[in-house]
Amino acid sequence: MTLEFTPMAGSHAIEVKGIEGVPLAPADTRQLQEAFEQSALLVIRDLELTNESHIAFTRAFGDLVIHPLEFLRHRDNPEIIELSTSPEEPLAEDDPTADEIVAYSGWHTDLTFNPVPSLGGFLRPIEIPPESGYTAYIDAAEVYQALPEATKQKIHGLTVVHSLLDNRAGVPKDADIDFPDEVEAMEEVIHPLVFSHPYNGRPVLFISPTFTRKIVGLSQEASDQLLGELKEFATDERFSYVHIWQPNDLVIWDNWQSIHKGYGHKKKYRRVMHRTTLEGNRNLMDYLM
Ligand code: SIN
Repeated sequence: MTLEFTPMAGSHAIEVKGIEGVPLAPADTRQLQEAFEQSALLVIRDLELTNESHIAFTRAFGDLVIHPLEFLRHRDNPEIIELSTSPEEPLAEDDPTADEIVAYSGWHTDLTFNPVPSLGGFLRPIEIPPESGYTAYIDAAEVYQALPEATKQKIHGLTVVHSLLDNRAGVPKDADIDFPDEVEAMEEVIHPLVFSHPYNGRPVLFISPTFTRKIVGLSQEASDQLLGELKEFATDERFSYVHIWQPNDLVIWDNWQSIHKGYGHKKKYRRVMHRTTLEGNRNLMDYLM
């Protein structure tokens, strides 16, 4: 069976059907690798995976990163992070907080606080709530194309400090969690604000809103102003594809050319997701524009 790649109406997502299982057939691997190098987002349907085959599938695209925050790692498979926010006990019928949204994560690109940012995320649902719990994706090369010419001229050649500290991947500062010493000791890193994508040459606005701290060479005030304007522009709804999860989905995104966020889900439901993360293999400063 040949793979079917179908652009999803009104979005940059490409739906992929026809994968029969893992290990992938060599021809399927090549087609998927090519599609991954060109596109910001692939939505694979009807692929039944276990933790082991999820990891094996990701390996077909490169090496995996172990997430620096140990408490996110799956106990038996540290290559997987488990995103799960669920009530310890079922909520009472009349619990007034039942519809509150939990596990919201702001717009970000994974691991841009690392010297070499992750190349990709591979996310699959383990337990899907009956409503809520969606994930949204933006194509950051499409955002760059839409910027006014004057803004493009202004931001070319700029570089930006990214850091996990202050934010710690969205975990509240007062959360009762021991961050490993290596996380506390992480240095800030610098990436280009605009670069040419190493695989496909698309110019990308590289603006991981959660982790960008300051544009190098500007005052903090001027940097906050410009980063604020760029973040607002980039995360406009018109660029966003909202994924409503179905069983046996596997969504793959290219972190070098996309931004994503978790909408969170109603507290009364359980939601469990597993993500593997592909290691980056390029210093993006070599592709500065
Ligand atoms: C992620 O940020 O990798 C996951 C988003 C989600 O849980 O919807």
